Amino acid sequence: MARFIEIPQSKVPAVGQRTLVHHEGSSIVLFNLDGSLHAIENSCPHSGASLFAGKLEGALLQCPAHGMRFDITRGCTGAQALELKRYPVTRDGDLYRINL
Ligand code: FES
Repeated sequence: MARFIEIPQSKVPAVGQRTLVHHEGSSIVLFNLDGSLHAIENSCPHSGASLFAGKLEGALLQCPAHGMRFDITRGCTGAQALELKRYPVTRDGDLYRINL
């Protein structure tokens, strides 16, 4: 059975903004990057810090704890093989779905 979180249009962050989505004990950061939505687990793969407050430059998100950078559109970093947990976001009419 497909699992997803429905996000109504009214809860979608504006372009350049982000929002935190809580679901079953975990949290997901939903970014609106130039009109394209990207969802990542709110946990840095380096040591688990919250990524919600990370500095975003283009698609590169800098972890506020130790400064590692992650590409929120691809999940990878340059130097180390640490992967963000990413969730596909799809649209069905006025609803967006974060697919778990
Ligand atoms: S916890 Fe994110 S870089 Fe260390």
